[in-house]
Amino acid sequence: QTGYVTLDRGYKNTGATQSAITFLDGEEGILRYRGYSIEELAAKASFLEVSYLLIYGELPTQEQYDSFATAIRRHTLVNEDMRKIFDGFPVSAHPMCVLGSLVNAMAAFYPDSYDGSNNTDLHITRLMAKLPTIATWSYKRSLGHPTNYPKNELDYIPNFLNMMFALPVEDYKVDPVVAEALNVLLILHADHEQNCSTSTVRLVGSSQANIYSSIAAGINALWGPLHGGANQEVIEMLEEIKAGGGDVAKYIDMAKNAKTTGFRLFGFGHRVYKNFDPRAKIIKKAADDVLNKLGVNDPVLEIAKGLEEAALNDPYFVQRKLYPNVDFYSGIIYRALGIPTNMFTVLFAIGRLPGWIAQWKEMREQKEPIGRPRQIYTGATLREFVAIGDRK
Ligand code: SDX
Repeated sequence: QTGYVTLDRGYKNTGATQSAITFLDGEEGILRYRGYSIEELAAKASFLEVSYLLIYGELPTQEQYDSFATAIRRHTLVNEDMRKIFDGFPVSAHPMCVLGSLVNAMAAFYPDSYDGSNNTDLHITRLMAKLPTIATWSYKRSLGHPTNYPKNELDYIPNFLNMMFALPVEDYKVDPVVAEALNVLLILHADHEQNCSTSTVRLVGSSQANIYSSIAAGINALWGPLHGGANQEVIEMLEEIKAGGGDVAKYIDMAKNAKTTGFRLFGFGHRVYKNFDPRAKIIKKAADDVLNKLGVNDPVLEIAKGLEEAALNDPYFVQRKLYPNVDFYSGIIYRALGIPTNMFTVLFAIGRLPGWIAQWKEMREQKEPIGRPRQIYTGATLREFVAIGDRK
């Protein structure tokens, strides 16, 4: 090997870049976007305001917000030829598979994203505008219902909800409780510094690949059950515990014997947060509020609280600093909002989109070098070729 390589599997102790977008403090459980605490943003801002903040660095003035929101409204329609790609998927296709494919396909419809034109803002607008539209197609087709077109008179989140739940046979009225809950959830998912999917977006973008292919790569990384896919796994795990009679101790034991069971408590643990995930605290409280306001009584919420209680009092988890993360309670709210389990990670992607865009833009503006880590070679030393007839 030439030079000196430090092995750091999973980049646990490697800083990949310098960034001014998001600040995390894993010990203190602090998360800030461009210096603003998520507690304040979740309580006082709209998701589009936070998207603008992450992407352009400042909270928008009313004029800047109006022009951002209007530009997005004017791009929510998706090229009808995208439906031909969509129609090629089996109805059973996982919505994350469809989303990643169709977002990558956007590069085919917008070659000015890789022909050297410098109109990044237009592609940012297209991504922000079209992801919600595309995201709802899978859900509608899984029900055998017609897809809905966006409505320009609706704001961002009501427009998404309308495309998700409206039917030609009856009007759909957006419940403000649902819209507000979704606003908080999308804000809490909007960015998280150099997590797996964001690092993927940066790495793909560092080769000068276009923004659509870079974001599509992030969607695919997010799908993994150890990352954004965990929010779907959590609900499936909680349902399994409920079906088994609610015996959380059994699952705690299975997790403690991970070496033999291979089982992990989904929604627990985090690479950075070693005390608590501040997002989980907000979402846990929101879960109680939203379910009460909607009059929803979901038994898995009590099971989740029981599991958290048991884990927080068990030395195995305490020693490993395993606490609920952003994915632990979010699915309980999504379900109360009528979002089906296989769409949970799609909602995570819609929330994370402005963060991916902001990080990709910063990487390009900072002219980061192409990402190309080294390795420590452990394979065979030099050996001679053997003709096939002479091989044993
Ligand atoms: C997200 O990076 C981000 O910021 C991600 C995210 C974002 O906003 O982008 O926050 C979103 O992805 C949240 C995480 C969602 N994933 C899950 O809930 C899946 C379950 N969690 C884990 O797989 C794990 O905790 C990770 C992936 C989140 C973090 O893994 P690490 O930092 O690599 O920790 P590790 O796998 O080295 O585990 C350390 C120890 C191990 O035990 P030992 O080998 O030391 O005996 O803790 C154990 C692990 O076995 N462990 C768990 C566990 N998570 C870790 N044991 C039981 N249940 C768990 N959930």
